Amino acid sequence: MAEPFKNTPPAPEAKGEMTAQNIAAALAGESQASQKYLAFAAAADDEGFPNVARFFRAAAYSESNHARNHLSVLGGIGTTAENLKAAFGGESFEITEMYPAYDAVAKLQGNESARLSVRYALQAEKQHRAIYDDLLKGVEGSKDMGGEAVWVCPICGYTTIGTAPDYCPECATTKEYFKEF
Ligand SMILES: [Fe+2]
Repeated sequence: MAEPFKNTPPAPEAKGEMTAQNIAAALAGESQASQKYLAFAAAADDEGFPNVARFFRAAAYSESNHARNHLSVLGGIGTTAENLKAAFGGESFEITEMYPAYDAVAKLQGNESARLSVRYALQAEKQHRAIYDDLLKGVEGSKDMGGEAVWVCPICGYTTIGTAPDYCPECATTKEYFKEF
């Protein structure tokens, strides 16, 4: 009987500008597919097809591994300190440029649903950015985060450490629906 074996993701490799663009496009596509399949799984559960939901979740996990492999090839996975800096930078771009610009366009076009979705994301990104900043200070001193619970609102993504609020301050969802990590 074969010994257990676990492979590793493909290593970073920088050859070929067109290849880098292709792999970046594949990363975006696989990431999106994974998220769509998770949303489809929840819808299948709601419609009474729990095993279709189970398959959507399996496919989402598979696609998320493809996305991880593409990110690895692009050299996008570093040390935890590097990853926290990258996460902080990504959130900062979304907070200061991307979502304010998207909100301005949605406002101009009168799309209130898009504005709400953008507002939910923008508010949560601010919480994430602050937490990433704290975590980076710890990790730079070789200190892990404490063991407090992390709570996330299932509707707007509001994220907090310690205890969940009775009502989400962004969307009013009550605390029994919050997901604990
Ligand atoms: Fe919320």
